[in-house]
This record gives sequence, structure tokens and C-alpha cells, in this order.
Amino acid sequence: MPPPLAERLRALLDSTLDRTDLPGLPEPERGKVRDVYDLGPDLLIVTTDRVSAFDVVCGTVPCKGQVLNAIAAHCFERSADLAPNHLRACPDPNAMLVRKLDPLPVEVIVRRYISGSLWRDYSRGERRLYGIELPDGLRADERFDELLVTPTSKAGPGEHDAPLSTEEILSRGLVAPRVWERVRGTALALFARGEQEAASKGLILVDSKYEFGLDRDTLYVMDEIHTPDSSRYWEADGSAERFEAGQPQRMLDKENVRQWLRERGFEGHGRPPPLDDEVRVELARAYLELQRRLLGEPPELPADGLDVHARLVDSLARAGILKGP
Ligand SMILES: Nc1ncnc2c1ncn2[C@@H]1O[C@H](COP(=O)(O)OP(=O)(O)O)[C@@H](O)[C@H]1O
Ligand SMILES: [Mg+2]
Repeated sequence: MPPPLAERLRALLDSTLDRTDLPGLPEPERGKVRDVYDLGPDLLIVTTDRVSAFDVVCGTVPCKGQVLNAIAAHCFERSADLAPNHLRACPDPNAMLVRKLDPLPVEVIVRRYISGSLWRDYSRGERRLYGIELPDGLRADERFDELLVTPTSKAGPGEHDAPLSTEEILSRGLVAPRVWERVRGTALALFARGEQEAASKGLILVDSKYEFGLDRDTLYVMDEIHTPDSSRYWEADGSAERFEAGQPQRMLDKENVRQWLRERGFEGHGRPPPLDDEVRVELARAYLELQRRLLGEPPELPADGLDVHARLVDSLARAGILKGP
């Protein structure tokens, strides 16, 4: 019998992909999670195993990069009829070749439930947020009948995203009115699709962040979609009962790590406490479970002792993206 998943994941704790250095390519832009290599008309986006919370990198989690890459690729493919996206190919489990775009300075979160940062603001008494008036009397994790779109500015390194209203976006000329209309419409359509797909797998898509970019006049969806880094997912079974009883939802996303950090006094300021093995394995399990549910097949884990960076270099050489030795 193969060892249980937690044991296999513990064996991978010391061989996570923390950072990449690809021979013969220019230095990448390093985001919190991704290393982005400029190949000219395309970008090579390598999704590492880094985990960020409250906009700070807190460590690594086994298999996290490959899970994000697989879910994003799957969801891009399954929504290409709704809007064009940046995906061109996946040359490695941790890498995506994408169309290089001119990113919009605004990203949006579509929300079906009041949760996360929106709930925290609301529970502090805020009622007018993102140019939207929220009614009194909402409860934590309550469902909205109508989807909410909450835009934020895209923060640079070390900054936090700032909330925006549609009015500010247009009056400050951050996005042209016609493009903004497309952004909203596309985000809502993608979310509706994601919600349907999640529901068919016994899951609830709670909220989801979308980023967009332009290539000339064409608007593309970029970055990642419907991953557990960019979205919240809850287990559907028993969710209504948990809400009625005022209990927390069962989460298959990064909120678990945010909670773990919050319990230790970290909310994005100063140095995060190092993640312990247990929380790293737990998050890996949640992410792999989400991939299994959404994609309908068990994810393939790297063999014990596999050097993921060496495999990446090898795959990219075979795809002709890196020159061979
Ligand atoms: N197709 C694309 N064209 C240009 N930029 C992109 C594209 N897809 C993603 N990006 C950008 O690449 C970066 C990905 O790295 P990531 O680690 O997610 O960054 P962040 O720390 O901003 O979340 C982000 O800044 C994202 O906006
Ligand atoms: Mg990102």
C-alpha cells in the first residue's frame, strides 16, 4: 500500500520550489508567487511553491505551484468561450507560456458571499465600500442574491491593494469606460461559470479575483483564475447548516493559512512567523483535494527526492524555450 498522503507530503517539505533561475533567460520579475520571464511576445510564468498571505511571502507549501498551474490552465480552457485569456501552453507542471499583455492597473473580486476582508470591514461598521451601499444586519458568510464586484488598485511590491469604486476608476482615468464595462461583464460571466463548475463538484465558489490585460484593443483575462490562491472555496455539503449554526465553513483555500497567521498575531505587518510543518502539509492537502475535485482525477505528486527545478529546466529545454546543454 502506498503511504498515506500526509506522509508523502511530509517527505516533500524539503524539496519545494522556492525560486527559479533559468539558464540563458534574462532575470525574471519575481512576484509573491510567480517568477515571470520575458520571452519577447510571450511570457513564461513559473508558479513556485511560495505562499503569500496579507501580501507577504510566508514560506513554501509542497505541490502548491503545480496545483495552481493545473487548476488555472483547466479553468482557462473551460472558459475560453466566454472571454479570450493569456494561456498558450503548459510546458511543465509548474509553468505556463502566456501572451504578454499590458496589465490594467485595476483588478476585481466578484463575491457571492460576505466573507474575508469584506466581512472584516463590514463587522467594523463600514457600510459604504467600493462605492456600494451594504444593508445593515448581514451575518458572517451570508449569501448575496446579486453578485458584488469589488475593484482594487493593483499594488506594487510591498504595497497593499486599495479599494476603488467604479466612479473613481473612471474619473481617474484608470480604465476607459468601454473597457471597464467589458471587465465587469467578463468577470461576472467567468464567476457564473466557475460557480456552476464548482457546484457540479459539490463545492461553493465564494469569491474570486480576476486580472486583465490588453493587447492592442483586445481585452484578455490574465494571471490565474479560480485557483485556491485567487478564490475562496467551501465544501457545499452542510454549508447552509453551518451558516445557520454560526459555525465556520469548511475551506479548501488559503484562508486556513491566513487564520493560522492571525491566531499568531500576524496580519501583514512585520515579519510573519515561520509556517510549521503541520500547517504546510495541511494547506498542501487542501489544495490537492481541491484539484482532485475540480479536475476529476487524482493529481500526480512529484516522486520523493525529485528535483523540481531540474525537471523544469529539462521540460523547458524539450519545449525549445531553453537552449539544451
Ligand atoms: N499575461 C500577462 N501579461 C503581463 N503580466 C502578467 C500576465 N499574467 C500575469 N501577469 C503578472 O505577473 C505577475 C505574476 O506574479 P505573482 O506572483 O502572481 O504577482 P503578485 O505578487 O503581484 O501577486 C503579476 O504581477 C501579474 O499581474
Ligand atoms: Mg498574483
